[in-house]
Amino acid sequence: MRDELVVGNWKMNGGLAANAGLLARLASEWTPRERRKLVVCVPAPYLAQAQAGLASSAVMWGVQDVSEHASGAYTGEVAAGMAAEFGCRYAIVGHSERRRFHGETDRAVGAKALAALGSGLIPIACVGETLDERDRGATDEVVVRQVDALLGALGAKARSCVIAYEPVWAIGTGRTASPEQAQAVHALLRSRLASAGAGDVSLLYGGSVKGSNAAALFAMPDIDGALVGGASLDADEFLTIARA
Ligand code: PGA
Repeated sequence: MRDELVVGNWKMNGGLAANAGLLARLASEWTPRERRKLVVCVPAPYLAQAQAGLASSAVMWGVQDVSEHASGAYTGEVAAGMAAEFGCRYAIVGHSERRRFHGETDRAVGAKALAALGSGLIPIACVGETLDERDRGATDEVVVRQVDALLGALGAKARSCVIAYEPVWAIGTGRTASPEQAQAVHALLRSRLASAGAGDVSLLYGGSVKGSNAAALFAMPDIDGALVGGASLDADEFLTIARA
């Protein structure tokens, strides 16, 4: 049975005071539903605050990136084991903003996913094409390359991860992929994963998900939830998506 997951990605947003209000609302208003889980991925300095605010609730928390290394001379990096010490359950890896602004390659994303699993975190590995790649008709080729690299790095452990399909052109642009466009890519990813024995991983869609479009996306057979950026900073909007 695939988990349904709604994951908030705060990106580099927040502050102690604003976080406190948001975490308190999620903690008090989210009642777990069968198979549906709610997660917030916060900036690393706020992990302790997320842990304190959510520990006695049904909401889980995670980080937005981890180092591929366990420890050592890697200035500025955060190890998966460090995040795990704060009760994290999930780690986003390979977000398109990491690939684009920090030069993360498919190899690095695989290594990060492996590092997350090694510390008991569930990696949420992101794949997705740019607008240029979609316009060139290269969507399938790009997402298959990305997911195959992950499968190559993880082997049988791929069964323990979550994959998020996030078309880069839909992130933060207000332009969501249509449910049918998203489903087509999810079906391709599902068949690729199934041929590697990992057909039961949860596949999330991400890119301008809002309260108003979540239900139509979740109605698609291969969409198991969402990775939500901007809308996860607003408690009402995020809870509406979580309940969709
Ligand atoms: P968005 O971001 O919901 O603001 O489009 C999604 C993401 O980047 O994970």
